Amino acid sequence: MSRGDTARRYLGVAERPPIDAMNSADWRTMPPLVKRYGRHAAVPIPEPLGDLLASASGLTRYQWETGGPAGTTLPEEGYAAGRAYRPVPAGGGLQSSEVYLVGSADGLETGAYHYDCAAHSLTRVRRGAVPGDLGLPGARLCLLVTGVVGRLVFKYREFGYRLTCLNAGVVAGQLLSLLAGTRWYGRAVLRFDPAPMGDVLGFDAGAETVLAVVELAGEPWTDAGPDRPALDAEALPPTDRTRPVPMLDSVPLTAALLGASRTADGPPPPVPGLAGLGGGAAEPLPAVASRLADGVARRRSADGRFGPDPLGREDLAAVVAAGAGGWESEVDPGHMLLYALVHRVDGVPTGRYVYDRGEHRLLRLPSAQDGPGAAGPFAHILAMHGAAAGLYLAGDYETGLDTVGDRWYQMLNITAGIAVQRVCLAAAARGLGSRVRCSFEADQVARQLHPSGRIRPLCQVLIGRIGSETAYTQPIDGRHTL
Ligand SMILES: Cc1cc2nc3c(=O)[nH]c(=O)nc-3n(C[C@H](O)[C@H](O)[C@H](O)COP(=O)(O)O)c2cc1C
Repeated sequence: MSRGDTARRYLGVAERPPIDAMNSADWRTMPPLVKRYGRHAAVPIPEPLGDLLASASGLTRYQWETGGPAGTTLPEEGYAAGRAYRPVPAGGGLQSSEVYLVGSADGLETGAYHYDCAAHSLTRVRRGAVPGDLGLPGARLCLLVTGVVGRLVFKYREFGYRLTCLNAGVVAGQLLSLLAGTRWYGRAVLRFDPAPMGDVLGFDAGAETVLAVVELAGEPWTDAGPDRPALDAEALPPTDRTRPVPMLDSVPLTAALLGASRTADGPPPPVPGLAGLGGGAAEPLPAVASRLADGVARRRSADGRFGPDPLGREDLAAVVAAGAGGWESEVDPGHMLLYALVHRVDGVPTGRYVYDRGEHRLLRLPSAQDGPGAAGPFAHILAMHGAAAGLYLAGDYETGLDTVGDRWYQMLNITAGIAVQRVCLAAAARGLGSRVRCSFEADQVARQLHPSGRIRPLCQVLIGRIGSETAYTQPIDGRHTL
């Protein structure tokens, strides 16, 4: 077996839409979408951490659903058709990440804490824990973003792990975007062994695992110093009803990939260049400054059709630039290739483009036809939703699987999740709508991106003017607009 083969086997299944899994999903086995601990261990959250956590993982609105997912029969009892949603999008509307804070901050005794989104409070899971106990000796305070795989596996089987990684990236992307522009600094750490972290936090390794770490540094954080309390003998257990359920037995490829992803072997692969990608005529883009945090309160997925008016060139420039870089991470954002399907953008001909970061311009890919069909066979997806443009976040798995090994799968998809959330925020900050999509045949799309099929699409984001709304939602948290 060569390096990366466990991930290659997983990709053989997870790059196809999980139609059979969705049709046979047993909704009675849907795990709880929140994790909670006994209320006796709750502590208030000092600001600005409270705002940060609520804006990344709080409950914002309740969405009443009128019917079950297509092709499924919902149980008659014990199933609530509606769901509480968060500030961030989540595959299937099933939030699979929990957020923990480890270390010391002003107003918070040193330890490991879980963010309880239902109560908007912190629960002390283990007094005295510091990042060094997790194998992160350089950090004073960090945020851990986990994946509770069962929340997606019950519905999507193996495909669920793909969404779990993307969802964790989306939450990390939100945290990084909120931290940018403040006097604090956040950096994504994606190479670590999750096993000792899980031990410190008392996880069942088959149910929950740390996927991304956001290290914080800056003024408000104080050193643990001599007052560090002794480390509690063990972590607090969650309530029985919300304990993440181990579900890896039903997904052997995911179980194998998680097992093979504990370590990242070699150095990161070189960042891919644009040579050989076939880009032709250049469409320069205007320089546009975006404050992504302005989009947080307004972001939600477009759930009807997008509005008919075209986007401006600045709109396209803003969303593309936000997805292409601007965050600190162990994985260079340049590993992500950005493709744009342009449908209705003033001054930019309809077509397929690849983004050139160095020159901030789009390079047109050759197309057999001009006019409406030039966006390729995926024009119908844009047309179906009425989107003005679609972005594909894509990557070359092979370079990284050869050097880093199986963990590259996770690292690349979390990075795609970070980029996805930045695109959604940039759109929302400009008053535009967005919708993330993963339901595509990767093989078909890959052939549209590059004739070799080597560049694989990781996730898609549709962008357009805000149009019709179909869902009925009620606010939970006054800080978010609907
Ligand atoms: C990784 C990811 C994949 C998604 N895939 C799809 C998809 O294939 N089709 C779709 O209609 N929505 C998709 N969504 C959007 C979610 O359904 C949506 O975010 C969720 O229902 C929550 O609603 P909100 O974004 O309005 O908060 C995806 C979202 C994420 C983050």
